[in-house]
Amino acid sequence: MATAIYPGSFDPVTYGHLDIIERAARIFDVLYVTVFTNAAKAPLFTVEERLEMLREVTGHLGNVRVESFDGLLIQYARTKKARVIVRSLRAVSDFDYEFQMALMNKKLEPEVETLFMMTSHQYIYLSSSIVKEVASFGGCIKDLVPEVVERKLRTRLGG
Ligand code: PNS
Repeated sequence: MATAIYPGSFDPVTYGHLDIIERAARIFDVLYVTVFTNAAKAPLFTVEERLEMLREVTGHLGNVRVESFDGLLIQYARTKKARVIVRSLRAVSDFDYEFQMALMNKKLEPEVETLFMMTSHQYIYLSSSIVKEVASFGGCIKDLVPEVVERKLRTRLGG
C-alpha cells in the first residue's frame, strides 16, 4: 500500500493546498495531511483550529487522514511507514527552501523520497501568509480559501 505524507503549517489551509491534497489523494492509497510546527513561523491559528479546518475541507476524500505531529517530519514518516513526502512548488522562489528541506530529510532518512508537485496555475500567487495579509485589511479572499476558512479568518482578523 502506497502511503504518502503532505506536511505543512496549513495556517490556514488554502485552495492551493486543497488542490495538491486532491491530486495527491488520487495517486496514493493513503495520504496523511499533517500539521507540523515550522520553527520560523508564528502561527495565527492553534494546531487544533488548523486540524478542524483541514478535516472540514477534506471530508469528501476517503483516503485522506488529517493529523498533527510535534517533532521531526522524518520521525513521523517512519511511524507511518511512509516512503514519500509530498510538497508543492509554486514558483522558482520556493526552490531554495524546498531543496534544502528535501536534502536534509534525505540525509536523515535516505529511504524517504520528497515528491514535488507543481501547483495548478491559478494558485501560483497564493500562500497562507498573503491570504492572512489580504484578510487583515478587509480584502476579498473568496476565491482563495474555502468558506469555512474565510469565516474563521474574518472572525480572527476582523474585516
Ligand atoms: O507549510 P510550511 O510552513 O512550508 O511547512 C514546513 C514544514 C512544517 C513541513 C517544515 O517546517 C517541517 O518539516 N517541520 C517539522 C520539523 C522538521 O522535520 N524540520 C526539519 C525539516 S528539514
